[in-house]
Amino acid sequence: MEGLKINPWEVSSEIKEQDYPKLIKEFGAKLIDDKLLDRLKKITGDLHPFLTSRLFFAHRDLDVVLDDYSKGNEFYLYTGRGPSGKMHLGHLLPFIFTKWLQDKFDVDLLIQITDDEKYLVKDISMDEIRKNTQDNILDILSLGFNKERTHIIVDSEQSKILYNNAIMFAKKLTASTAKAVFGLKDSDNVGKYFFTSMQAVPAFLLSAIKGRNVRCLIPYGIDQDDHFKIARDILPKLGYYKPSAIISKLMPSLQGTGKMSSSDPNSAIFLDDDEETVKKKINKYAFSGGRDTKEEQRKYGANPDVDFAFNMYRALEPDQGKVSRAYADYKSGKILSGEMKAMSSDAINKFLSGLRERKEQIKGHVGEYMFDVNRFKD
Ligand code: TRP
Repeated sequence: MEGLKINPWEVSSEIKEQDYPKLIKEFGAKLIDDKLLDRLKKITGDLHPFLTSRLFFAHRDLDVVLDDYSKGNEFYLYTGRGPSGKMHLGHLLPFIFTKWLQDKFDVDLLIQITDDEKYLVKDISMDEIRKNTQDNILDILSLGFNKERTHIIVDSEQSKILYNNAIMFAKKLTASTAKAVFGLKDSDNVGKYFFTSMQAVPAFLLSAIKGRNVRCLIPYGIDQDDHFKIARDILPKLGYYKPSAIISKLMPSLQGTGKMSSSDPNSAIFLDDDEETVKKKINKYAFSGGRDTKEEQRKYGANPDVDFAFNMYRALEPDQGKVSRAYADYKSGKILSGEMKAMSSDAINKFLSGLRERKEQIKGHVGEYMFDVNRFKD
């Protein structure tokens, strides 16, 4: 789309809600329709709020995974994180959703940490990236992932198995494809041209190890779609299934436009923000779907769907009955913006303090979550 850039290394800040269906069409993926949601609900019993709120709104071949699953064939999940800095709430949301999927389907999950990628594309040192890698892994694991079925792959540490598979992929990926898809130039470093081959490996790694095809479902933000579009082209050429995908919108920043960004501390809530900071950020910066004055809000009500505080409340409040009531009351004007913000800050602070507690328990056990090829050999 003119002017809009959505790719792994560059995201326009002007992306708006109404752009998403157009983007998905242009990318060649599909929207998740009500029929597919019903089908998911039959298997999972309930629907995660990120599905009902359409934060995860699109897919590639999700139906194929479900077809296979209903025939008794297991699949596995794969997602990842580029360790470019400390994590904020927006970074964690895809992992919250992935954990929900893992718990519902009881399947293996690979989490790739692309330290190599961040070295290639960002101006930061490997030392800094290593530190981020350790911190980010702890933050992710503090969500409480299933230890038996969660496997973290740090690219630079699992380089042997990744590289041996990545070259199979790279042999089928031409520089002209990489140029066309990512808009790479001759002046870009060659590592960028190669990198998709690394990010594609976990999408077929379990099939490669087991020597038989196992389906892979990848939850990711729409900015990662280019890598997986290429992977879907190339994997059948190597004899593997095309990976399936469940795709989210980008997390909006506190201010409502663009996405949460680590480089602007006021655009995001960091996992180590204390209670007062969270309250202050929500009160001062959160984009409100409410009216300008109390009187107007009482009379006309708010638009909760665009309201940052409400969206965080919906994402993090465990009691979804309460969330439905808040939605109705905020929309009708019974709840004011300030009240919504207070409910939201409370939910965020409870969530963050839970994370911090679990983080303490997990320290010292991180090694137990690291990828080990022997656990997948039949
Ligand atoms: N490239 C992603 C990033 O910069 C990290 C990543 C690797 C990833 N594998 C993935 C994200 C699979 C989603 C799904 O954040």
